[in-house]
Amino acid sequence: MKIQDFNKRYNQTDKQAITMITSYDAFSAKTSHQAGVDCLLVGDSVGMVVYGFDSTLQVTTEMIARHTEAVRRAAPDAFVIADMPFMSNRKGFEACMNAAEELMRSGANAIKLEGARGNLEYVRHLVDSGIPVMGHLGLTPQSFQVFGGFKVQAKEQMEQQRLLEEAEQLQRAGIFALVIECVPSSIAEKLTLNLKIPTIGIGAGAACDGQVLVWHDLLGCNSGFKPKFLRRYANLDGTVTEAIQSYVNEVKQGQFPSKIESYS
Ligand code: KIV
Repeated sequence: MKIQDFNKRYNQTDKQAITMITSYDAFSAKTSHQAGVDCLLVGDSVGMVVYGFDSTLQVTTEMIARHTEAVRRAAPDAFVIADMPFMSNRKGFEACMNAAEELMRSGANAIKLEGARGNLEYVRHLVDSGIPVMGHLGLTPQSFQVFGGFKVQAKEQMEQQRLLEEAEQLQRAGIFALVIECVPSSIAEKLTLNLKIPTIGIGAGAACDGQVLVWHDLLGCNSGFKPKFLRRYANLDGTVTEAIQSYVNEVKQGQFPSKIESYS
């Protein structure tokens, strides 16, 4: 997929939904790309699912850059989007441009930036500088302290109105696509109909132009994480634990390694 394909896909009459999945390492990049996913997101969710932090606030530009390099090495032809981490775009133009530059030099095709308020000038400047920008509205996890947790957003009419306005402002500023996270499906549908760029939903219903899920969530790597929007396509948590239990048991019982697994 190329940046133009987002628009092409959006303008087709028999639209095919865009598929996006997070990827932080070579294995997830290779398997997702081989499986035919349209684009890979080096999301700052890496902080929670890989590093074990309880939010994304600890993630730095350097962390995202190293993960982007790993993803790029394993999937040279994939369309890779790298997340601008917490505060990386809120400390002035120079800091924002330096962070975006680092992510692009690490192999990203585009960057993703959370929120609209205070970001519009930055988005314009990034786009004018040749950096494709994906927006992200709704539940923007970097602002979870303001929301009082990871909660469904835009339930009230005023919030919905603001969401519609912010999406249009971001579109005018030049974003090529918009992630909408955890909002009622009716407002995601309205947003999708209003905008001329594709929307990619997570917990935002079926009307979005595409869907994104976290690789570890859709593969069932954390059986304790059960948000309403998540469909699990595997149970890796159980499968991996069982496989490792078998290894432990077989080593303890002297069944591994066998003769054919040993050099003569
Ligand atoms: O960081 C991330 O994984 C994300 C997706 C949930 C959209 O931003």
